[in-house]
Amino acid sequence: MNQELKILIQAQYPLIYLVTSEEERAEQAISTIAQSELKPQRRVFVWTVTHGIVEYGQPRNVTQHNTVSPEAAIEWIIRQKEPSIFILKDLHPFIDAPATNRSLRDAIASFKGTHKNIILMSPMQQVPIELEKEVVVIDFTLPDMAELNKVLTQHVDQNRGRRLTTEAREKLLRAALGLTKDEAEKVYRKAQVTTGRLTEDEVDIVLSEKKQLIRRNGILEYIEEDETIDAVGGLEELKRWLKQRSNAFTERAREYGLPQPKGMLILGVPGCGKSLIAKTTSRLWGLPLLRLDMGRVYDGSMVGRSEANLRNALKTAESISPAILFIDELDKSFAGSGGSSDSDGGTSSRIFGSFLTWMQDKKSPVFVMATANRVERLPGEFLRKGRFDEIFFVDLPTPEERQDIFNIHLTKRREDISRFDLEQLAKMSDGFSGAEIEQAIVAAMYEAFAQDREFTQLDIIAALKATLPLSRTMQEQVTALRDWARQRARPAASSVAEYQRMEF
Ligand SMILES: Nc1ncnc2c1ncn2[C@@H]1O[C@H](COP(=O)(O)OP(=O)(O)OP(=O)(O)O)[C@@H](O)[C@H]1O
Ligand SMILES: [Mg+2]
Repeated sequence: MNQELKILIQAQYPLIYLVTSEEERAEQAISTIAQSELKPQRRVFVWTVTHGIVEYGQPRNVTQHNTVSPEAAIEWIIRQKEPSIFILKDLHPFIDAPATNRSLRDAIASFKGTHKNIILMSPMQQVPIELEKEVVVIDFTLPDMAELNKVLTQHVDQNRGRRLTTEAREKLLRAALGLTKDEAEKVYRKAQVTTGRLTEDEVDIVLSEKKQLIRRNGILEYIEEDETIDAVGGLEELKRWLKQRSNAFTERAREYGLPQPKGMLILGVPGCGKSLIAKTTSRLWGLPLLRLDMGRVYDGSMVGRSEANLRNALKTAESISPAILFIDELDKSFAGSGGSSDSDGGTSSRIFGSFLTWMQDKKSPVFVMATANRVERLPGEFLRKGRFDEIFFVDLPTPEERQDIFNIHLTKRREDISRFDLEQLAKMSDGFSGAEIEQAIVAAMYEAFAQDREFTQLDIIAALKATLPLSRTMQEQVTALRDWARQRARPAASSVAEYQRMEF
């Protein structure tokens, strides 16, 4: 646990920025490292703006004289001779002040050859440019199974609960992965209060509480999709690719020597099932689907806020892994981040940079599933080989695919669809997207319903005729996308020849 932190301290990194909202747990971990894992042992001091510097473990009133102001505290730190770790909590509101900033840099310079480190601990990352080169930023990891096990054991003991079987215990622990220690305590308590006990049967309560907590953080969203992959018409190649990887996140796949799948990008024409297939993959693979809302990552209220948001979201996704991280409309999320004119002080290109680095380095089984329909808006780095395992292009459906889509959507609405001639419908809907086909069916149903009768083939044909599909109104864009994708992406449909032949 927190191996990285230990290594940084040991390697004499003078200034470490630890991003966490779990102060207590982090302090405990640092004190454990300081007192039992390092040679020489370090003393641990904690600074807060309310109490100044207090040695870890001492009562708050045993404060070092005159150390409340950040500069005074740092002066005091510079004067210390003994091997020590100094935790400065929530320094971020002061860190931009010239005096604080300068004294931090003085401290760093004075640390050479000593066993002293400063750890800036804060729930958000905010590093002034002057310090960017001196500081390493790391995240404090969320509790792992072993730590959660302690929380659970304590909970069971306190409530004099029945002993849990190994399986039940493991399920309860796994269900709480991704939560902080406090949150885990809370969900176990909630489950206990709800049914008066905590057993394997309460796993669902823990899971649903976790979903709530994740929702509340507002950036990740837990998506539950009822549809299976069979609700997607056509796209046979893409579906085959996905089915082939159903067990890609198992232990067995690792033993076999397969690499962990990293992610895929689905490019394509609007309304052709990109989002739908991404969502149904979660059921196909049996993995939770977490939607990352990039719009909510951006937060201009404070410098560093957006970065912190992204880090938190990725951290949560990693701790729930194996999981699918779904980024819908990637082109909208990262639009403009490649440009040189930074209208937002460089935030979007920094976010983009952190995201790419994360994708590059990630070891945890988080599969990134991204969709986009405007390639020209995507920063080129995303499209480079090796970033994603595969880039698929979802084109307008071929006649066979359209039959399939009609079949799916009609079957969804009526038990017997033998009265429909699917082949004719497919022929009449040239240039229609899946979404437009669905809309035509719904329009036909409205028409018939208003006349108090059952809808027919003719109603659908009339609806098709009354619609001008997007592929015609936005012909240029669609053509440009196709031309681009033909050379660079893998077609999601099986018959490539078909769309190459199609003309408007
Ligand atoms: N291939 C398909 N098979 C079945 N239904 C489809 C298909 N394509 C689209 N649909 C229907 O249209 C709806 C919208 O499709 P979806 O949101 O997946 O499109 P999209 O490709 O993500 O479009 P956009 O680029 O606008 O986000 C789906 O929920 C589904 O009902
Ligand atoms: Mg979509």
